[in-house]
Amino acid sequence: MNISIFGLGYVGAVSLACLARDGHHVVGVDVDPAKLKLISDGKTPVVEEGMIELMAKVVGSGLVSVTTDAAQALRDSEVSLICVGTPSAANGSQDQSAVLRLAEQLGVALRDIDRPHTFVFRSTLVPGTVEDVLRPILEKASGKQEGRDFFVCFQPEFLREGSSIRDYDHPPFTIVGANSAEPVARLKQLFGHLPCDFHTTSVRAAETVKYCCNNFHALKITFANETARLCEVLGVNPFEVMDLVCRDTQLNISRAYMKPGFAFGGSCLPKDLRATLYLAKQHDVVLPMHAGILASNRVHIDHAVDKVLESGRRRVGMVGLAFKTGTDDLRESPLVTVAERLIGKGLSLLVYDPEVHLSSLLGANRRFIEEHLPHIGALVRSDLEAVVAESDVLLIGSSDKRTIQEVKRLARADQIVVDLANVGESQGMAAQYVGLTW
Ligand SMILES: NC(=O)c1ccc[n+]([C@@H]2O[C@H](COP(=O)([O-])OP(=O)(O)OC[C@H]3O[C@@H](n4cnc5c(N)ncnc54)[C@H](O)[C@@H]3O)[C@@H](O)[C@H]2O)c1
Repeated sequence: MNISIFGLGYVGAVSLACLARDGHHVVGVDVDPAKLKLISDGKTPVVEEGMIELMAKVVGSGLVSVTTDAAQALRDSEVSLICVGTPSAANGSQDQSAVLRLAEQLGVALRDIDRPHTFVFRSTLVPGTVEDVLRPILEKASGKQEGRDFFVCFQPEFLREGSSIRDYDHPPFTIVGANSAEPVARLKQLFGHLPCDFHTTSVRAAETVKYCCNNFHALKITFANETARLCEVLGVNPFEVMDLVCRDTQLNISRAYMKPGFAFGGSCLPKDLRATLYLAKQHDVVLPMHAGILASNRVHIDHAVDKVLESGRRRVGMVGLAFKTGTDDLRESPLVTVAERLIGKGLSLLVYDPEVHLSSLLGANRRFIEEHLPHIGALVRSDLEAVVAESDVLLIGSSDKRTIQEVKRLARADQIVVDLANVGESQGMAAQYVGLTW
Protein backbone atom coordinates (compact mmCIF):
# COMPACT_ATOMS: atom_id res chain seq x y z
CA MET A 1 0.00 0.00 0.00
CA ASN A 2 1.07 3.60 -0.45
CA ILE A 3 1.02 5.26 2.94
CA SER A 4 1.85 8.77 4.12
CA ILE A 5 2.79 9.40 7.74
CA PHE A 6 2.44 12.88 9.24
CA GLY A 7 4.60 13.51 12.31
CA LEU A 8 7.82 11.54 12.59
CA GLY A 9 8.29 11.42 16.35
CA TYR A 10 8.27 8.15 18.29
CA VAL A 11 4.98 6.90 16.91
CA GLY A 12 5.41 8.12 13.33
CA ALA A 13 9.04 7.08 12.88
CA VAL A 14 8.51 3.58 14.27
CA SER A 15 5.37 3.14 12.15
CA LEU A 16 7.25 4.33 9.07
CA ALA A 17 10.09 1.88 9.64
CA CYS A 18 7.83 -1.08 10.43
CA LEU A 19 5.39 -0.47 7.57
CA ALA A 20 8.28 -0.18 5.09
CA ARG A 21 9.78 -3.34 6.59
CA ASP A 22 6.42 -5.03 5.88
CA GLY A 23 6.75 -4.04 2.21
CA HIS A 24 4.65 -0.87 1.97
CA HIS A 25 5.69 2.35 0.22
CA VAL A 26 5.86 5.00 2.93
CA VAL A 27 6.27 8.74 2.60
CA GLY A 28 7.11 10.55 5.82
CA VAL A 29 6.10 14.16 6.46
CA ASP A 30 7.28 16.41 9.27
CA VAL A 31 7.66 20.13 9.84
CA ASP A 32 11.12 19.52 11.27
CA PRO A 33 13.64 19.35 8.38
CA ALA A 34 16.31 17.87 10.70
CA LYS A 35 14.14 14.76 11.18
CA LEU A 36 13.57 14.42 7.45
CA LYS A 37 17.31 14.74 6.76
CA LEU A 38 18.08 12.01 9.29
CA ILE A 39 15.57 9.65 7.72
CA SER A 40 16.66 10.31 4.15
CA ASP A 41 20.22 9.55 5.31
CA GLY A 42 18.98 6.21 6.64
CA LYS A 43 19.22 7.35 10.27
CA THR A 44 16.60 7.30 12.97
CA PRO A 45 15.09 10.51 14.41
CA VAL A 46 14.24 8.70 17.68
CA VAL A 47 16.36 6.55 19.97
CA GLU A 48 14.65 3.18 20.14
CA GLU A 49 15.90 -0.38 20.36
CA GLY A 50 16.40 -1.77 16.85
CA MET A 51 15.63 1.48 15.05
CA ILE A 52 19.18 2.23 13.85
CA GLU A 53 19.41 -1.05 11.95
CA LEU A 54 15.79 -1.07 10.78
CA MET A 55 15.85 2.51 9.48
CA ALA A 56 19.10 1.92 7.56
CA LYS A 57 17.59 -1.20 6.02
CA VAL A 58 14.21 0.23 4.98
CA VAL A 59 15.65 3.45 3.59
CA GLY A 60 18.16 1.36 1.66
CA SER A 61 15.31 -0.71 0.23
CA GLY A 62 13.92 2.39 -1.52
CA LEU A 63 10.46 2.04 0.07
CA VAL A 64 10.83 5.21 2.18
CA SER A 65 10.76 8.82 1.08
CA VAL A 66 10.32 12.06 3.02
CA THR A 67 8.92 15.48 2.28
CA THR A 68 7.66 18.66 3.89
CA ASP A 69 5.02 18.91 1.20
CA ALA A 70 1.78 17.55 2.64
CA ALA A 71 -0.06 17.86 -0.68
CA GLN A 72 2.56 15.81 -2.48
CA ALA A 73 2.43 13.13 0.23
CA LEU A 74 -1.33 12.95 -0.07
CA ARG A 75 -1.17 12.59 -3.84
CA ASP A 76 1.33 9.76 -3.47
CA SER A 77 -0.71 7.71 -0.97
CA GLU A 78 -4.14 6.17 -0.36
CA VAL A 79 -3.89 6.16 3.42
CA SER A 80 -2.46 8.78 5.78
CA LEU A 81 -1.47 8.03 9.35
CA ILE A 82 -1.54 11.16 11.49
CA CYS A 83 0.95 10.94 14.36
CA VAL A 84 1.67 14.55 15.29
CA GLY A 85 2.17 15.48 18.93
CA THR A 86 -0.75 16.41 21.19
CA PRO A 87 0.97 17.68 24.35
CA SER A 88 -0.55 19.31 27.43
CA ALA A 89 -1.33 23.02 27.32
CA ALA A 90 -0.49 25.09 30.40
CA ASN A 91 -4.05 24.73 31.74
CA GLY A 92 -4.00 20.93 31.37
CA SER A 93 -6.11 20.82 28.23
CA GLN A 94 -4.84 19.02 25.17
CA ASP A 95 -2.85 21.29 22.88
CA GLN A 96 -4.29 20.34 19.50
CA SER A 97 -2.68 23.16 17.54
CA ALA A 98 -0.47 20.83 15.46
CA VAL A 99 -3.26 18.45 14.48
CA LEU A 100 -5.69 21.33 13.76
CA ARG A 101 -3.19 23.04 11.48
CA LEU A 102 -2.44 19.78 9.77
CA ALA A 103 -6.14 18.96 9.21
CA GLU A 104 -6.58 22.33 7.50
CA GLN A 105 -3.55 21.66 5.30
CA LEU A 106 -4.74 18.15 4.46
CA GLY A 107 -8.22 19.43 3.62
CA VAL A 108 -6.84 21.96 1.15
CA ALA A 109 -4.61 19.29 -0.40
CA LEU A 110 -7.58 16.94 -0.68
CA ARG A 111 -9.36 19.31 -3.11
CA ASP A 112 -7.16 18.16 -5.98
CA ILE A 113 -7.38 14.45 -5.25
CA ASP A 114 -10.03 12.59 -7.15
CA ARG A 115 -9.95 9.21 -5.42
CA PRO A 116 -11.12 8.45 -1.87
CA HIS A 117 -8.45 8.93 0.76
CA THR A 118 -8.39 7.46 4.26
CA PHE A 119 -7.13 9.50 7.22
CA VAL A 120 -6.17 7.40 10.20
CA PHE A 121 -5.69 9.50 13.33
CA ARG A 122 -3.14 7.82 15.58
CA SER A 123 -2.29 10.79 17.79
CA THR A 124 -4.00 10.54 21.16
CA LEU A 125 -7.06 12.79 20.90
CA VAL A 126 -9.69 13.90 23.40
CA PRO A 127 -12.90 11.94 22.68
CA GLY A 128 -15.03 13.66 20.07
CA THR A 129 -12.12 15.42 18.36
CA VAL A 130 -12.11 13.36 15.15
CA GLU A 131 -15.84 13.61 14.48
CA ASP A 132 -16.61 17.03 15.91
CA VAL A 133 -13.44 18.99 15.12
CA LEU A 134 -11.18 17.33 12.55
CA ARG A 135 -13.81 15.97 10.19
CA PRO A 136 -15.54 19.37 9.81
CA ILE A 137 -12.16 21.04 9.17
CA LEU A 138 -11.31 18.47 6.50
CA GLU A 139 -14.76 18.78 4.91
CA LYS A 140 -14.73 22.58 4.89
CA ALA A 141 -11.19 22.93 3.57
CA SER A 142 -11.67 20.28 0.88
CA GLY A 143 -15.29 20.96 -0.08
CA LYS A 144 -15.74 17.19 0.06
CA GLN A 145 -17.85 14.86 2.14
CA GLU A 146 -16.55 12.38 4.64
CA GLY A 147 -17.90 8.87 4.18
CA ARG A 148 -18.15 9.39 0.42
CA ASP A 149 -15.13 11.32 -0.91
CA PHE A 150 -12.78 10.54 1.93
CA PHE A 151 -12.78 8.67 5.24
CA VAL A 152 -11.64 9.39 8.77
CA CYS A 153 -11.03 6.88 11.53
CA PHE A 154 -9.19 6.65 14.83
CA GLN A 155 -6.74 3.89 15.66
CA PRO A 156 -5.15 4.29 19.09
CA GLU A 157 -1.45 3.57 19.31
CA PHE A 158 -0.33 1.37 22.20
CA LEU A 159 3.44 1.26 21.75
CA ARG A 160 5.73 2.12 24.63
CA GLU A 161 8.91 4.07 24.17
CA GLY A 162 11.94 1.84 24.65
CA SER A 163 10.25 -1.25 23.24
CA SER A 164 8.25 0.30 20.44
CA ILE A 165 9.23 -2.03 17.58
CA ARG A 166 8.38 -5.05 19.72
CA ASP A 167 5.14 -3.40 20.80
CA TYR A 168 4.32 -2.53 17.18
CA ASP A 169 4.58 -6.23 16.32
CA HIS A 170 2.81 -7.45 19.46
CA PRO A 171 0.16 -4.93 20.46
CA PRO A 172 -2.42 -5.89 23.11
CA PHE A 173 -5.07 -5.46 20.40
CA THR A 174 -5.86 -3.43 17.33
CA ILE A 175 -8.80 -1.06 17.75
CA VAL A 176 -10.28 0.87 14.90
CA GLY A 177 -12.97 3.46 15.53
CA ALA A 178 -14.75 4.11 12.24
CA ASN A 179 -18.14 4.91 10.78
CA SER A 180 -17.76 2.93 7.57
CA ALA A 181 -16.28 -0.29 6.26
CA GLU A 182 -13.68 1.33 3.99
CA PRO A 183 -11.13 2.42 6.62
CA VAL A 184 -11.60 -0.83 8.55
CA ALA A 185 -10.78 -2.84 5.43
CA ARG A 186 -7.67 -0.70 4.79
CA LEU A 187 -6.40 -1.12 8.32
CA LYS A 188 -7.06 -4.85 8.26
CA GLN A 189 -4.74 -4.97 5.25
CA LEU A 190 -2.07 -3.09 7.19
CA PHE A 191 -2.43 -4.58 10.67
CA GLY A 192 -4.67 -7.65 10.32
CA HIS A 193 -1.67 -9.99 10.32
CA LEU A 194 -0.61 -8.98 13.85
CA PRO A 195 -0.98 -11.66 16.54
CA CYS A 196 -3.83 -9.95 18.39
CA ASP A 197 -7.57 -9.35 18.21
CA PHE A 198 -8.88 -6.74 15.83
CA HIS A 199 -11.80 -4.74 17.24
CA THR A 200 -13.94 -2.20 15.48
CA THR A 201 -15.93 0.37 17.39
CA SER A 202 -17.30 3.88 17.21
CA VAL A 203 -14.74 6.64 16.67
CA ARG A 204 -15.47 8.12 20.11
CA ALA A 205 -15.13 4.79 21.90
CA ALA A 206 -11.71 4.24 20.28
CA GLU A 207 -10.59 7.71 21.36
CA THR A 208 -11.86 7.00 24.88
CA VAL A 209 -10.20 3.57 25.15
CA LYS A 210 -6.79 5.15 24.57
CA TYR A 211 -7.26 7.55 27.50
CA CYS A 212 -8.74 4.82 29.64
CA CYS A 213 -5.75 2.52 29.02
CA ASN A 214 -3.20 5.20 29.85
CA ASN A 215 -5.12 6.29 32.93
CA PHE A 216 -5.31 2.68 34.08
CA HIS A 217 -1.56 2.26 33.64
CA ALA A 218 -0.96 5.40 35.69
CA LEU A 219 -3.38 4.12 38.32
CA LYS A 220 -1.58 0.76 38.53
CA ILE A 221 1.82 2.39 38.93
CA THR A 222 0.50 4.71 41.62
CA PHE A 223 -1.23 1.87 43.44
CA ALA A 224 2.00 -0.13 43.56
CA ASN A 225 3.98 2.92 44.65
CA GLU A 226 1.56 3.97 47.38
CA THR A 227 1.49 0.38 48.65
CA ALA A 228 5.29 0.40 48.64
CA ARG A 229 5.45 3.66 50.66
CA LEU A 230 3.23 2.07 53.28
CA CYS A 231 5.24 -1.17 53.21
CA GLU A 232 8.43 0.83 53.72
CA VAL A 233 7.33 2.21 57.10
CA LEU A 234 5.86 -1.13 58.13
CA GLY A 235 9.12 -2.94 57.39
CA VAL A 236 7.38 -5.14 54.83
CA ASN A 237 8.95 -6.14 51.53
CA PRO A 238 6.86 -4.27 48.91
CA PHE A 239 7.98 -6.54 46.07
CA GLU A 240 6.76 -9.59 47.90
CA VAL A 241 3.41 -7.97 48.63
CA MET A 242 2.80 -6.77 45.08
CA ASP A 243 3.99 -10.06 43.63
CA LEU A 244 1.45 -11.94 45.74
CA VAL A 245 -1.25 -9.41 44.89
CA CYS A 246 -0.57 -10.05 41.20
CA ARG A 247 -0.72 -13.81 41.65
CA ASP A 248 -4.44 -13.58 42.34
CA THR A 249 -5.77 -13.70 38.83
CA GLN A 250 -9.32 -14.37 40.03
CA LEU A 251 -10.09 -11.15 41.82
CA ASN A 252 -7.02 -8.90 41.38
CA ILE A 253 -5.51 -9.12 37.91
CA SER A 254 -8.71 -10.04 36.14
CA ARG A 255 -11.97 -8.69 34.79
CA ALA A 256 -13.47 -8.90 38.29
CA TYR A 257 -14.82 -5.55 39.50
CA MET A 258 -13.84 -3.84 36.22
CA LYS A 259 -17.40 -3.18 35.18
CA PRO A 260 -19.47 -0.02 35.40
CA GLY A 261 -22.05 -0.33 38.15
CA PHE A 262 -22.98 1.12 41.51
CA ALA A 263 -20.77 2.17 44.44
CA PHE A 264 -18.97 -0.39 46.59
CA GLY A 265 -19.85 -0.98 50.20
CA GLY A 266 -20.27 -3.83 52.61
CA SER A 267 -18.52 -5.00 55.69
CA CYS A 268 -14.96 -5.08 54.30
CA LEU A 269 -13.89 -2.61 51.62
CA PRO A 270 -14.84 0.70 53.28
CA LYS A 271 -13.60 -0.24 56.75
CA ASP A 272 -10.33 -1.72 55.49
CA LEU A 273 -9.64 1.29 53.33
CA ARG A 274 -10.28 3.57 56.30
CA ALA A 275 -7.97 1.47 58.49
CA THR A 276 -5.27 1.60 55.82
CA LEU A 277 -5.53 5.37 55.67
CA TYR A 278 -5.40 5.69 59.45
CA LEU A 279 -2.36 3.45 59.59
CA ALA A 280 -0.67 5.54 56.94
CA LYS A 281 -1.50 8.73 58.85
CA GLN A 282 0.04 7.31 62.02
CA HIS A 283 3.27 6.84 60.09
CA ASP A 284 3.07 10.18 58.26
CA VAL A 285 2.68 8.40 54.95
CA VAL A 286 0.51 10.26 52.46
CA LEU A 287 -1.63 8.09 50.18
CA PRO A 288 -3.72 10.47 48.05
CA MET A 289 -4.89 7.79 45.65
CA HIS A 290 -6.16 5.50 48.38
CA ALA A 291 -7.78 8.49 50.10
CA GLY A 292 -9.45 9.41 46.83
CA ILE A 293 -11.17 6.05 46.55
CA LEU A 294 -13.71 6.66 49.31
CA ALA A 295 -14.28 10.22 48.10
CA SER A 296 -14.94 8.94 44.60
CA ASN A 297 -17.31 6.29 45.93
CA ARG A 298 -19.32 9.01 47.66
CA VAL A 299 -19.53 10.94 44.39
CA HIS A 300 -20.94 7.81 42.77
CA ILE A 301 -23.64 7.62 45.44
CA ASP A 302 -24.43 11.32 44.82
CA HIS A 303 -24.76 10.50 41.14
CA ALA A 304 -27.38 7.82 41.86
CA VAL A 305 -29.33 10.19 44.11
CA ASP A 306 -29.19 12.86 41.39
CA LYS A 307 -30.62 10.44 38.83
CA VAL A 308 -33.65 9.86 41.04
CA LEU A 309 -34.07 13.57 41.79
CA GLU A 310 -33.73 14.41 38.08
CA SER A 311 -36.69 12.12 37.36
CA GLY A 312 -38.83 14.69 39.15
CA ARG A 313 -40.87 11.91 40.77
CA ARG A 314 -41.57 11.96 44.50
CA ARG A 315 -42.60 8.37 45.30
CA VAL A 316 -39.65 6.02 45.10
CA GLY A 317 -39.81 2.23 45.14
CA MET A 318 -36.40 0.84 45.94
CA VAL A 319 -35.64 -2.71 44.87
CA GLY A 320 -32.59 -3.95 46.75
CA LEU A 321 -31.08 -2.60 49.95
CA ALA A 322 -28.20 -4.93 50.86
CA PHE A 323 -24.72 -3.96 49.71
CA LYS A 324 -24.80 -6.64 47.03
CA THR A 325 -27.24 -9.09 45.55
CA GLY A 326 -27.46 -12.44 47.26
CA THR A 327 -26.72 -11.20 50.77
CA ASP A 328 -28.78 -9.64 53.54
CA ASP A 329 -25.78 -7.64 54.82
CA LEU A 330 -26.77 -4.02 55.27
CA ARG A 331 -23.54 -2.83 56.86
CA GLU A 332 -22.26 0.13 54.88
CA SER A 333 -24.60 -0.62 52.03
CA PRO A 334 -24.46 2.34 49.65
CA LEU A 335 -28.13 1.66 48.92
CA VAL A 336 -28.90 2.46 52.55
CA THR A 337 -27.10 5.78 52.07
CA VAL A 338 -29.16 6.44 48.93
CA ALA A 339 -32.33 5.62 50.86
CA GLU A 340 -31.35 8.00 53.67
CA ARG A 341 -30.52 10.76 51.21
CA LEU A 342 -33.84 10.40 49.40
CA ILE A 343 -35.76 10.49 52.68
CA GLY A 344 -33.73 13.56 53.61
CA LYS A 345 -34.84 15.24 50.38
CA GLY A 346 -38.45 14.70 51.43
CA LEU A 347 -39.22 11.94 48.95
CA SER A 348 -41.46 9.10 50.02
CA LEU A 349 -39.82 5.71 49.91
CA LEU A 350 -40.74 2.05 50.04
CA VAL A 351 -38.15 -0.73 49.93
CA TYR A 352 -38.20 -4.32 48.77
CA ASP A 353 -35.24 -6.67 49.07
CA PRO A 354 -35.84 -10.42 48.89
CA GLU A 355 -32.86 -11.31 51.12
CA VAL A 356 -33.44 -8.59 53.70
CA HIS A 357 -37.08 -9.60 53.93
CA LEU A 358 -36.14 -13.25 54.41
CA SER A 359 -33.48 -12.47 56.99
CA SER A 360 -35.80 -10.26 58.98
CA LEU A 361 -38.31 -13.11 58.98
CA LEU A 362 -35.56 -15.35 60.33
CA GLY A 363 -34.52 -12.70 62.79
CA ALA A 364 -30.95 -12.66 61.48
CA ASN A 365 -30.72 -9.04 60.48
CA ARG A 366 -33.68 -7.77 62.43
CA ARG A 367 -31.64 -6.48 65.35
CA PHE A 368 -29.22 -4.66 63.07
CA ILE A 369 -32.10 -2.92 61.32
CA GLU A 370 -33.86 -2.14 64.58
CA GLU A 371 -30.73 -0.74 66.19
CA HIS A 372 -29.08 1.02 63.28
CA LEU A 373 -31.70 1.63 60.64
CA PRO A 374 -35.10 1.82 62.33
CA HIS A 375 -36.11 4.64 59.98
CA ILE A 376 -35.39 2.44 56.96
CA GLY A 377 -36.65 -0.76 58.54
CA ALA A 378 -40.10 0.80 58.77
CA LEU A 379 -40.11 1.29 55.00
CA VAL A 380 -39.21 -2.29 54.07
CA ARG A 381 -42.14 -4.18 52.58
CA SER A 382 -42.48 -7.89 51.93
CA ASP A 383 -44.67 -7.42 48.89
CA LEU A 384 -42.90 -6.33 45.72
CA GLU A 385 -46.17 -5.78 43.91
CA ALA A 386 -47.31 -3.26 46.53
CA VAL A 387 -43.98 -1.40 46.35
CA VAL A 388 -44.23 -1.12 42.57
CA ALA A 389 -47.88 -0.14 42.70
CA GLU A 390 -47.25 2.74 45.10
CA SER A 391 -44.21 4.21 43.32
CA ASP A 392 -43.60 6.65 40.49
CA VAL A 393 -39.94 5.82 40.10
CA LEU A 394 -38.39 2.40 40.66
CA LEU A 395 -34.80 2.35 41.80
CA ILE A 396 -33.13 -0.95 40.99
CA GLY A 397 -30.20 -1.81 43.26
CA SER A 398 -30.46 -5.59 43.11
CA SER A 399 -29.78 -7.91 40.20
CA ASP A 400 -31.67 -10.84 41.70
CA LYS A 401 -33.07 -12.46 38.55
CA ARG A 402 -36.52 -13.43 39.76
CA THR A 403 -37.10 -10.09 41.46
CA ILE A 404 -35.97 -8.11 38.42
CA GLN A 405 -38.13 -10.15 36.08
CA GLU A 406 -41.08 -9.33 38.31
CA VAL A 407 -40.21 -5.63 38.43
CA LYS A 408 -39.95 -5.46 34.66
CA ARG A 409 -43.27 -7.25 34.31
CA LEU A 410 -45.03 -5.02 36.83
CA ALA A 411 -43.51 -1.65 35.82
CA ARG A 412 -46.13 0.65 34.28
CA ALA A 413 -45.77 3.01 31.33
CA ASP A 414 -46.08 6.04 33.62
CA GLN A 415 -43.12 4.89 35.74
CA ILE A 416 -39.40 5.47 35.41
CA VAL A 417 -36.92 2.72 36.18
CA VAL A 418 -33.53 3.98 37.40
CA ASP A 419 -31.09 1.09 37.09
CA LEU A 420 -28.07 1.01 39.41
CA ALA A 421 -27.43 -2.70 38.98
CA ASN A 422 -27.08 -2.90 35.21
CA VAL A 423 -30.05 -5.21 34.88
CA GLY A 424 -30.65 -3.65 31.47
CA GLU A 425 -33.63 -2.51 29.53
CA SER A 426 -35.76 -5.46 28.48
CA GLN A 427 -37.97 -5.57 25.49
CA GLY A 428 -41.54 -5.19 26.47
CA MET A 429 -40.89 -3.26 29.70
CA ALA A 430 -43.48 -0.52 29.74
CA ALA A 431 -41.62 1.95 31.99
CA GLN A 432 -39.06 4.51 30.85
CA TYR A 433 -35.52 3.22 31.49
CA VAL A 434 -32.64 5.29 32.90
CA GLY A 435 -29.21 3.70 33.46
CA LEU A 436 -26.87 5.00 36.15
CA THR A 437 -24.00 5.77 33.77
CA TRP A 438 -25.13 3.98 30.64
N1 LIG B 1 5.39 8.37 22.48
C1 LIG B 1 4.65 7.34 22.72
O1 LIG B 1 5.09 6.33 23.31
C2 LIG B 1 3.21 7.33 22.32
C3 LIG B 1 2.47 6.14 22.45
C4 LIG B 1 1.15 6.13 22.05
C5 LIG B 1 0.55 7.29 21.57
N2 LIG B 1 1.27 8.44 21.49
C6 LIG B 1 0.60 9.63 20.94
O2 LIG B 1 1.03 9.76 19.60
C7 LIG B 1 1.20 11.13 19.24
C8 LIG B 1 2.62 11.37 18.82
O3 LIG B 1 3.47 11.11 19.90
P1 LIG B 1 5.05 11.16 19.73
O4 LIG B 1 5.62 10.82 21.05
O5 LIG B 1 5.42 10.37 18.53
O6 LIG B 1 5.22 12.74 19.45
P2 LIG B 1 6.56 13.54 19.10
O7 LIG B 1 6.44 14.84 19.77
O8 LIG B 1 7.76 12.67 19.36
O9 LIG B 1 6.45 13.73 17.54
C9 LIG B 1 5.49 14.52 16.92
C10 LIG B 1 6.05 14.96 15.56
O10 LIG B 1 5.01 15.66 14.87
C11 LIG B 1 5.68 16.67 14.10
N3 LIG B 1 4.68 17.64 13.63
C12 LIG B 1 4.08 18.65 14.32
N4 LIG B 1 3.25 19.31 13.51
C13 LIG B 1 3.31 18.73 12.30
C14 LIG B 1 2.65 18.98 11.06
N5 LIG B 1 1.76 19.96 10.90
N6 LIG B 1 2.96 18.16 10.02
C15 LIG B 1 3.84 17.17 10.16
N7 LIG B 1 4.48 16.90 11.32
C16 LIG B 1 4.21 17.68 12.37
C17 LIG B 1 6.72 17.21 15.05
O11 LIG B 1 7.73 17.92 14.38
C18 LIG B 1 7.24 15.92 15.66
O12 LIG B 1 8.32 15.38 14.94
C19 LIG B 1 0.78 11.92 20.49
O13 LIG B 1 -0.59 12.24 20.37
C20 LIG B 1 0.98 10.94 21.60
O14 LIG B 1 0.15 11.22 22.70
C21 LIG B 1 2.59 8.47 21.85
